[in-house]
Amino acid sequence: MLETRNLDKSFGAVHVTRDVSLKLERGERRVILGPNGAGKTTLFNQLVGELTPDSGSVHLAGEDVTALSVARRARQGLSRSYQKNTLFDGLTVEENLGLAASIHTGHASRLWSDCLSKPEVREIVQEVAEQVNLMPYLHATVSEISYGVRRQLEVGVALATRPLVLLMDEPTSGVGPEMSKGFHDLLNNLPRDLTMLIIEHDMDLAFDVADTITVLNYGEVVFDGLPEEARGSSLLKEIYLGSWENA
Ligand SMILES: Nc1ncnc2c1ncn2[C@@H]1O[C@H](COP(=O)(O)OP(=O)(O)O)[C@@H](O)[C@H]1O
Ligand SMILES: [Mg+2]
Repeated sequence: MLETRNLDKSFGAVHVTRDVSLKLERGERRVILGPNGAGKTTLFNQLVGELTPDSGSVHLAGEDVTALSVARRARQGLSRSYQKNTLFDGLTVEENLGLAASIHTGHASRLWSDCLSKPEVREIVQEVAEQVNLMPYLHATVSEISYGVRRQLEVGVALATRPLVLLMDEPTSGVGPEMSKGFHDLLNNLPRDLTMLIIEHDMDLAFDVADTITVLNYGEVVFDGLPEEARGSSLLKEIYLGSWENA
């Protein structure tokens, strides 16, 4: 469903992505782990199309999308949950979801009330709000909801475009342990045919949600396998040093 082949990227003399090849099957939930600066976000940006790799390719549902824009990839089913700044603060949760859904259904309009009145849009809003536990907040404006609920809404906005693949870069960063657990449950309850790639440095999330784990270190894949294997790996313990014991 999503594949990279031999991706390479340098910033000046700094080699941040080294020969990265990944393959996600349909419905696979893969977590990318790695210490700060390992190149996780840089890899992510190449997947969504915000950065062009120096060499290598990105494939979505069998098609080479390496040369396609962010918007084209999004239309083909690659959706990213953005952190901050992409929600409309003055609009309600329902309107934010409705706007994303209406872009997907082709009902986007400058009048919010117009797009929200379309049955196709309302149906997606309802479905997504249930999936990401936003029903109690539908009529709250974004500026009124807590940080944790905003993070849920960011995932909801991405889901409202009905993606094939959902990419998330540290979806629980800045969220307390209680909400973080709720977030794991929420991800686990999403449709099983949705392919997910989640960047994390929190190993709890990795072990809770992942079918498969990739570990990046200095831009390179140093582990690709099952969570059980990751847990036992002495290489990973070394990379994470003391933090592993706290996981
Ligand atoms: N636009 C950029 N220009 C130069 N260096 C960058 C740029 N973006 C990221 N880097 C560097 O690339 C490395 C990997 O960063 P990043 O992908 O953000 O790591 P991670 O998300 O794993 O913490 C870091 O050393 C970072 O300083
Ligand atoms: Mg990062």
